[in-house]
Formats: sequence, C-alpha cells, structure tokens
Amino acid sequence: MNQVVVVTGASGGIGRAVARAFGARHARVALLARGEEGLEAAAEDVTRAGGTALPIRADVAGFDQVDAAASRAEQELGPIDVWVNVAFTSVFAPFEEIEPDEFRRVTEVSYLGTCTARWPPCGA
Ligand SMILES: NC(=O)c1ccc[n+]([C@@H]2O[C@H](COP(=O)([O-])OP(=O)(O)OC[C@H]3O[C@@H](n4cnc5c(N)ncnc54)[C@H](OP(=O)(O)O)[C@@H]3O)[C@@H](O)[C@H]2O)c1
Repeated sequence: MNQVVVVTGASGGIGRAVARAFGARHARVALLARGEEGLEAAAEDVTRAGGTALPIRADVAGFDQVDAAASRAEQELGPIDVWVNVAFTSVFAPFEEIEPDEFRRVTEVSYLGTCTARWPPCGA
C-alpha cells in the first residue's frame, strides 16, 4: 500500500496511533494538529514505522487552514486517498454552565472542522 492519507488530530491519542498504523502500511501521511512538538513526535513515529510523514500545523476550526493543508498534502504527497478526522475538543460541565463561546468552539473544531473545499457539502 502506498496511499496518501491525511489524519487530523495526529499529534496525540487516537490520531497519532492511526497515523502510525498507516505508516506501518508504507503510506504517505499528512499529520494535522496545532502542537508542533506532538506533530514532530508523531512524524517520527510514522517514519520509524515505514511511512512518509508530512507534519502540518493547522487549527481545524479554520476552514482556510484546513484547505491550505489539504493543498499542501496534495502537492507534496500526491492526490489524497484517505482522510481521517480525529481532531476534537469538548467541554465537560453541567449544560447551563457552558458558555455560548464554548458551544461555538466545540462545534467549530469537532463538526465544522471536517470541512475542506474538496468536500462538496462544505459548499466552497
Ligand atoms: N480516548 C477515548 O477513549 C475515546 C473513546 C471514544 C471516542 N473518542 C474520540 O476519539 C477522538 C480523539 O480522542 P483522543 O482521546 O485521541 O483525544 P486527544 O488525545 O485529546 O487528541 C486530540 C487530538 O486533536 C488535536 N486537536 C484538538 N483541537 C484541535 C484543533 N482545533 N485543530 C487541530 N487539531 C486539534 C490535538 O492536537 P493539538 O492539541 O496539538 O492540536 C490532538 O492531536 C475524539 O473525537 C474522541 O471523542 C475517544
């Protein structure tokens, strides 16, 4: 397998494990997250497992950042075969204690963060 794969939330947790698993299948993996340190460590994981890594800093709540990352992945790795959305954020609190801005942020990261211009439902 030599697929081009994009993983969001790739700097830690499940996303990093997913990226490493694709690396072990010799995939070319674009890793998206905000934290540089975690991204570099995840890129090392992918390379050590046998894949090719392209770490890209991006906040998935920013449509333009996600779309630019997708373009860069295609330019440097080739057409995207697989896109895995793992980036998320959440708020644990009683409903009435959560602020409107907190609801908005969770929505923008965890739901709208899946959008790029390449996905027709996003309408760009
Ligand atoms: N862990 C579990 O037991 C479990 C169980 C069921 C479902 N899930 C689901 O699996 C997913 C991942 O869980 P996890 O435990 O792996 O979480 P995690 O360890 O907290 O990792 C979250 C990842 O998302 C990235 N991220 C967060 N906000 C971001 C943003 N705005 N833009 C880009 N990247 C962002 C983080 O990197 P940066 O901070 O560097 O950006 C990190 O790489 C979630 O959807 C969760 O609901 C998890």
